[in-house]
Amino acid sequence: MSTFDLARLLPADHFSTALHHDVQQGLTADPKWLPPKWFYDARGSELFEEITRLPEYYPTRAERAILTARAGEIAAATRARTLVELGSGSSEKTRLLLDALRDLGTLDSYVPVDVSESALTGAGEALALEYPELSVHAVLADFTARLGLPPQGGPRLVAFLGGTLGNLLPTERAAFLRGLRAALDPGDFLLLGTDLVKDPRVLVAAYDDAAGVTAEFNRNVLNVLNRELSADFDPTAFEHVALWDPEREWIEMRLRSLQDQTVKIPALDLPVHFEKGEELRTEVSAKFRRERVAEELATAGLRLSHWWTDEEGRFGLSLASPVETGV
Ligand code: SAH
Ligand code: AVI
Repeated sequence: MSTFDLARLLPADHFSTALHHDVQQGLTADPKWLPPKWFYDARGSELFEEITRLPEYYPTRAERAILTARAGEIAAATRARTLVELGSGSSEKTRLLLDALRDLGTLDSYVPVDVSESALTGAGEALALEYPELSVHAVLADFTARLGLPPQGGPRLVAFLGGTLGNLLPTERAAFLRGLRAALDPGDFLLLGTDLVKDPRVLVAAYDDAAGVTAEFNRNVLNVLNRELSADFDPTAFEHVALWDPEREWIEMRLRSLQDQTVKIPALDLPVHFEKGEELRTEVSAKFRRERVAEELATAGLRLSHWWTDEEGRFGLSLASPVETGV
């Protein structure tokens, strides 16, 4: 009989404490910025799913193609008993891994970890019905603060798909990978999806689609601030910007103020002034090359053992293991 439960590692005052802190820091900085994790309320999670179906947004299709071709190999190499997934969202591509591990007969439990409660319950309840033998233990957590790995159930395969690693800034990324390495035991694995450097026109189109769904996703962060902090942002007074930074090799999403305006955030007692044309950075999405992935993994104490791409070389999937320290 399958089971589904949800553990809350996010404190009940997450929105009031962590969001207050991030907004205070980000909106008083020059230039202004916000961490991308605040996109994902229920509406933001829905909009992300819509993005994955857009003709311009190739990463989901490319990663699905790799998983379709390689899930059997991944299952055989890892023989995982527990599949942990960080930033699991709808767990849609994950079914390919769950099927392969179930066919091999090693899988006991699936642990999706996400900041979006609506995504976790939607995916978890559906999976518990589809996989009658599987225990689904969802964890509501911020993977940059607490990883939320289950202590037992090895070998564990930790999947971090979709290219979400690229949404962390380089220092956050290094700290995250070090923390993940420290949480892994010998015999555990990391399966990491990374979007790859390519023609900037293809990249920019993926983040500035013709139907305007990504623009709505971007502006949704202002709705989150309005609801959670009683702010009075007018989302229509900001335009969506997506640009490619060739030095840092990342896409940057911004919201550009269409007019001089002062926004009130009563929960923080903070008036925030925007000049006409001033930009607020809402997300970076780093694009990788194989060497950089291998190097960043190695710096964290992880060894890349397998590297796969889709046929067009748009997206990379890596399998890595903790390097034995010999102590
Ligand atoms: N893995 C899925 C979803 C990617 S969207 C896919 O490949 O399609 C990114 C997901 O990560 C969202 O579900 C979002 O809620 C979650 N997320 C973003 N930042 C997070 C954080 N700091 N901690 C936990 N989950 C996070
Ligand atoms: C979740 N993450 C990998 C997405 C990305 O492509 O960076 C989020 C996203 N932002 C705009 N479109 C999609």
